[in-house]
Amino acid sequence: MKKYSIVIAGGGSTFTPGVALMLLDNKDRFPIRQLKFYDNDEKRQEPIAKACEILIKEKAPDVAFSYTTNPEEAFTDIDFCMAHIRVGKYAMRELDEKIPLKYGVLGQETCGPGGIAYGMRSIGGILELLDYMEQYSPDAWMLNYSNPAAIVAEATRRLRPDSKILNICDMPIDLEEKMANMCGLKSRKEMSVRYFGLNHFGWWSHIYDKDGNDLMPTIKKHMEQHGFALATSEFNQHVEPSWNDTFVKARDVYKVDPEHIPNSYLKYYLFPDYVVEHSNPEYTRANEVMDYREKNVFEECHRIIDKGTAEGTTFEADAHASYIVDLATAIAENTKERMLLIVPNEGSIANFDPEAMVEIPCIVGKNGFEKITIGNIPRFQKGLMEQQVAVEKLVVEAWIEGSYQKLWQAITLSKTVPSASVAKQILDDLIEANKDYWPELK
Ligand code: NAD
Ligand code: G6P
Ligand code: MN
Repeated sequence: MKKYSIVIAGGGSTFTPGVALMLLDNKDRFPIRQLKFYDNDEKRQEPIAKACEILIKEKAPDVAFSYTTNPEEAFTDIDFCMAHIRVGKYAMRELDEKIPLKYGVLGQETCGPGGIAYGMRSIGGILELLDYMEQYSPDAWMLNYSNPAAIVAEATRRLRPDSKILNICDMPIDLEEKMANMCGLKSRKEMSVRYFGLNHFGWWSHIYDKDGNDLMPTIKKHMEQHGFALATSEFNQHVEPSWNDTFVKARDVYKVDPEHIPNSYLKYYLFPDYVVEHSNPEYTRANEVMDYREKNVFEECHRIIDKGTAEGTTFEADAHASYIVDLATAIAENTKERMLLIVPNEGSIANFDPEAMVEIPCIVGKNGFEKITIGNIPRFQKGLMEQQVAVEKLVVEAWIEGSYQKLWQAITLSKTVPSASVAKQILDDLIEANKDYWPELK
């Protein structure tokens, strides 16, 4: 079996240790010879990299490890780039969440005005990574899960249409684990699903077990009573009280269309008033993440570095990262695994914009992906998706053209925003906050 060389871009991410450990745990199906970390913030990356260096030396001394802020070093001689960057880091996420809340609009990492602001920052960062990869390792694949994935995917479709990038999200995976649990199955891999939508904006229409038996009646019964709550999954990520609230609220989201199982992110579009009422404008999810995940990850890194050993570490292979290994293995070993990807529609959803980036099941192998045909989707979903996809396209056009008008239209069109005047107030604040990151808007 060939051994692969990987660069993790966003080496300073809180998810890096979990991803690295998941890679080491799966060396038998996805063999690696080299692992590199790349970040544009040397200070942030260093503790994570130094701790992982110790961990890798102890767990897999055969894997060559290095870390750098030099793009040439990072992107030379690689087969895969696993990208999870956050342009502007948590400081900007906090503003994305708090600025809309000032005007009574929800503040969320990837949805509504906050997601739009984050998109305007991410596009340039991802294009830069793609260009480095193209320059130094043109045959490599980028597996991207940097957010907001919907906007990033639309931007790369428009601006780098031939690039070898696959955009993917872990939310459906966690929710599928929960649904498998509702049905008494051990893993989502015992199910076959049909799903359609946009990233953080989709629905399951059919779910079968391995023998083709319909699992929807059991899942629907659970959704009606509990949403996604009371169903477990191996994920060690979506565990805090704010996530539990999202899983409970999925019960109400489900009731809006009991024929389909909704992605939990639809809460933000179907119940924005509820979300605002349950938000604290002084303390948002960014604060929670900084106070818990970020603090814990960096403390653990410093502990490992000080002791000079990773023995007894609390870091564990991140269940959240298993889909990344599945995707890499599908390409490397041509497994033809069926996975949800964010891809150009091009007729897969028959009654929807062929130029939209949609999230649908694909068969993944050595030469990329083949899409599963969905056919026509119902009017309710189609209406919601047309509005949302227009938002995402307007953001990308605003970024390309430096257009204030288009970004104002994008925020106005978001289902989370009540009027063009509120949209304008939020936009003007976001422009001020993002002046180091956004292109200048005219
Ligand atoms: P984080 O802030 O801890 O880490 C991001 C890292 O990216 C930082 O070290 C930062 O310095 C670095 N970075 C920023 N801009 C960069 C650039 N232009 N080039 C190189 N490095 C850059 O963030 P996190 O909470 O660990 O999340 C990382 C990313 O993963 C986010 O985009 C998040 O939304 C995403 N994520 C996606 C999914 C999914 O389902 N797709 C799941 C989990 C996390
Ligand atoms: C889910 C989504 C990701 C998102 C993450 C936010 O996993 O699929 O796209 O980034 O949640 O998690 P956080 O813990 O940072 O709020
Ligand atoms: Mn996601």
